[in-house]
Amino acid sequence: MRAVIAAFHNSITGLVTRFGGFVARNLGDGVLAYFGYPQAHEDDSERAVNCGLVMVQAVTKLDTLAGPAGTLRARVGIATGIVVVGDVIGSGSSLETPVVGDAPKSGSAPSGHCTSRCGDDRRDNTAAHRRAVRVPRRWPPCFEGLDDPIQAWSVVAQSAVDSRFAALRFGQGALVNRIEEIELLLRRWKQATTESGNVVLLLGEPGIGKSRLIAALEQRLQAHRMCGFRFSCSPHHQDSPLYPVVRHFERVANFQRGDSPSTKLEKLRRLLASDREVQTDLAVFAYLLSIPTHDKLQSTIAPQRLKEMTFAAIVRKLESLAASAPMLVVVEDIHWADPTTLDLLDKLVAFVERWPILLVVTARPEAQLSWASKANVTVRLLNALDNEHAAQLIVNVSGAISLPDNVVNRILIHADGVPLFIEELTKTVIERGKVNNDPLSIIIPNVVPTTLNASLMGRLDRLVAGKEVAQIGSVIGREFSFEMLQELSGLPTKRLMEAVRELAQAEIAIEHGRPPDATYTFKHALVQDAAYTSMLRERRRRSIYGLLSC
Ligand SMILES: Nc1ncnc2c1ncn2[C@@H]1O[C@H](COP(=O)(O)OP(=O)(O)O)[C@@H](O)[C@H]1O
Ligand SMILES: [Mg+2]
Repeated sequence: MRAVIAAFHNSITGLVTRFGGFVARNLGDGVLAYFGYPQAHEDDSERAVNCGLVMVQAVTKLDTLAGPAGTLRARVGIATGIVVVGDVIGSGSSLETPVVGDAPKSGSAPSGHCTSRCGDDRRDNTAAHRRAVRVPRRWPPCFEGLDDPIQAWSVVAQSAVDSRFAALRFGQGALVNRIEEIELLLRRWKQATTESGNVVLLLGEPGIGKSRLIAALEQRLQAHRMCGFRFSCSPHHQDSPLYPVVRHFERVANFQRGDSPSTKLEKLRRLLASDREVQTDLAVFAYLLSIPTHDKLQSTIAPQRLKEMTFAAIVRKLESLAASAPMLVVVEDIHWADPTTLDLLDKLVAFVERWPILLVVTARPEAQLSWASKANVTVRLLNALDNEHAAQLIVNVSGAISLPDNVVNRILIHADGVPLFIEELTKTVIERGKVNNDPLSIIIPNVVPTTLNASLMGRLDRLVAGKEVAQIGSVIGREFSFEMLQELSGLPTKRLMEAVRELAQAEIAIEHGRPPDATYTFKHALVQDAAYTSMLRERRRRSIYGLLSC
């Protein structure tokens, strides 16, 4: 029994760690794991769901003294919600990290299943859910300590949807503003089709509307006879070489779950059918897409050479398509790209010049790209929406419900013109209004939409010393001074200097002046709100008392 349990725990602990989670407690034959604590990531719910799926599989493959593989079965329950974690009792002596909240009560599922109730707000639209293939749970919910039955889902598999944007936005509302950007892109497209191919690099912080802009461009180009390539980088696959390329070809070749290797090979052959060097490229692509074939490329060819062959095959594919029609090649979110994809991109930037290709690349502003200064590259930074356009977006999102001015103003102030924040805040306000049966009387201070909480906390958790200082700052207000921080935090000057430097570098807060005379402003009110709500009331209160006596 000991050996079986040990094998189980080893396997589970390894997986939880691999997916960026944290094993909080071993409960005999069970494990309690957290995603989002102690380190929040913007995609914690997806990580949890993916990890759950893999766990259920992994346990059936364990070969233990209990019997051959297949003997053991595990069940996984996943829940999201706000919890208090850590020293709940307040004695300071606990070695464990207990949690209190509804979420931990609601994890249970029949064996061999992974159940999830991620996104416990009614909209239930976390990326994790839209990106998982799931079916409603059919067994009765029986969660200890919870009065109301709750909806849960049985997760069957990861779905093929590639991005948060694609996952969450089906029926998109109208595009607000971005007229100049669309014009620029259309001009570059025209240039690509009539003169020489070129590159547009769209930079912007998360949620500013990079993907939305590309969707709008694709829509405008629909009428043209063109062909598209889309490479979407993903935060989960940064260690997987050429993952975006692999996903692209799997999608266009129409691989289905459960396709046998020979079916996949046949689909791939059909995809490449019109190409010149079909045989070699087929072997190279088959290797890239992990389809077993008789060609033993890996054992006979050096990795560097294989990489060159792969790049050459991809470029040949592009050439053969671009020879027949102009092309739009989109590479999304390269801040998450693996090194090989970045190498490929270097090559593509030079390559497109000779072909009727518009290459549009998106990235967060901090991405460093050596090719950005080349002559055929246009760099465009997407700015926040101004108040007028932001208000228009609120109206688009709220639809038939008309929100009172003071609510609209609150949303405007808190969302800082970031379309994602505007959308999520508006939906949250409307949802809460429905729950309270009074859609119009809802001005809740410090609302952080559950859909954004992980992403916002992720920004704070990436800081080493800055998080605590950001929390203290959040109690003071949108603006706070170095002097006040010093008074309230009790930190030595040198450490506080390091912490505020970190806040400024990560663009959590904008620095005015030099410490110790500096003041700081939270770049986004929502980051301030997230920092504020991540503290227990007692700590906020201590900070405020400190503030009053300052
Ligand atoms: N100009 C805009 N008009 C309307 N909605 C927008 C606009 N820009 C962004 N959005 C919406 O805001 C959300 C975030 O935009 P997205 O394109 O996913 O951001 P990014 O790709 O920069 O992270 C999406 O739901 C998108 O539809
Ligand atoms: Mg995007």
